[in-house]
Amino acid sequence: MTTSPPRDGARPILDMNAFDPATTGSAAVQRRLSNFGAASVLFYRQPIEMVSAKGAWMTAKDGTRYLDFYNNVPSVGHSHPKVAQAVAEQIQKINIHTRYIVPIVDTYIEALKSHLPEPLSNIAMTCSGSEANDLAIRVAQAATGGQGIIVTETAYHGNTGLVTEVSPSSLKRGSLPPHVITVPPPSRHHYGSEIAKGFRTSVETALAEFARRGIRPAALLVDSIFSSDGIFADPPGFLTDAVATIRAAGGLFIADEVQPGFGRTGEAFWGFERHGIIPDLVTMGKPMGNGFPMAALAARPEYLDRFCADVGYFNTFGGNPVAAAAGLAVLEVIRDEALQANARTIGALLQDGLREIAAVDARVSDVRGAGLFIGIDLSDEHSGHPDPDLTVRVMDAMRQQAVLIGAAGRYGATLKVRPPLCLNEAEAAQFITCFKTALSR
Ligand SMILES: Cc1ncc(COP(=O)(O)O)c(C=O)c1O
Repeated sequence: MTTSPPRDGARPILDMNAFDPATTGSAAVQRRLSNFGAASVLFYRQPIEMVSAKGAWMTAKDGTRYLDFYNNVPSVGHSHPKVAQAVAEQIQKINIHTRYIVPIVDTYIEALKSHLPEPLSNIAMTCSGSEANDLAIRVAQAATGGQGIIVTETAYHGNTGLVTEVSPSSLKRGSLPPHVITVPPPSRHHYGSEIAKGFRTSVETALAEFARRGIRPAALLVDSIFSSDGIFADPPGFLTDAVATIRAAGGLFIADEVQPGFGRTGEAFWGFERHGIIPDLVTMGKPMGNGFPMAALAARPEYLDRFCADVGYFNTFGGNPVAAAAGLAVLEVIRDEALQANARTIGALLQDGLREIAAVDARVSDVRGAGLFIGIDLSDEHSGHPDPDLTVRVMDAMRQQAVLIGAAGRYGATLKVRPPLCLNEAEAAQFITCFKTALSR
């Protein structure tokens, strides 16, 4: 447990696999830098200019077709025709904020709620996952009268002021505010075979520290697949004890489903579902509109009531009819194309292939995950320590073979495998072949 982000070789999440602006780039890169300035984040030492995308593939300006294993936004497939059509039809009809009634918005929310546990029956629509988490934190603080938030040590929950405070992986220097305490993620590395117990004990220790500081707890906030911490999925149920612990201390449990939500883990529609728990608040975003910017907070009504008694909440673009049309199309495509089942089947194939590699290559020190959300740890074969340099080399070697992949974890030594849910067997096999080649370079 710590109040400062770990800086012992830890890497800020946005620095992983990023273009270094101190180096010179192409004219297009220079143009971008002059427009975005220091807030520019580009993938790869040599950034790629993309022109179009379809399914699991993106096409670059030079004609190279890249297999996308990194993008958790176009989750039902890039440029899906049903989503594109739904958006185009709705924007030609009407697109207005939620202070008027446009039935497609309620149709969408009801379709979304059919995937959520019963008590989470109120939805506040937002435009980004950051906004959803910002609202969730404020709702939790209002509902509990507490301020303290417990998060994992390499968490990322977004970019607003409030949410950056609970995103230790964003911090390059300085320390977290006193009302934020981090705990090690629920991993075998930290807790051995007693993951549930170990994680619960970490939450208890954080609560004791809050008590020492005179801060009442408001919430335990976790990404239920722990994507930026390095992807931890098993054993299902490892969150149950920690959730009971925060509730017993008067805090709420917020599940951030921005990454695992919408079927990606294969076994369940939401990450928290795999753990058999019902959160007090759920946030979601990224894949929700397959590229159309939309996100939401699902809440038990009593918590939203309490919050709205103190302050008003209105979001100009949140829940607009075009977002509803996109979101509805996404839910229909997930159902009609059985994408959750596909995530399970193809994810299992990928994990099998990766484990075969791990069995003969000591540098591949762990393969874990659920569905189409897989983490691959790369380590030094002699010391067994995480090897971020090897990870960068492998990402570059994959890129040379036209496969796009990212990194995660405290040291940036976990490859993050997160392709669109429509990935097929041949594409999974191509990934395995390219990964073997990348390791041999
Ligand atoms: C787990 C998690 N929560 C929240 C966010 C923030 O979402 P957005 O970028 O839409 O604001 C992200 C973004 O990467 C995320 O990974």
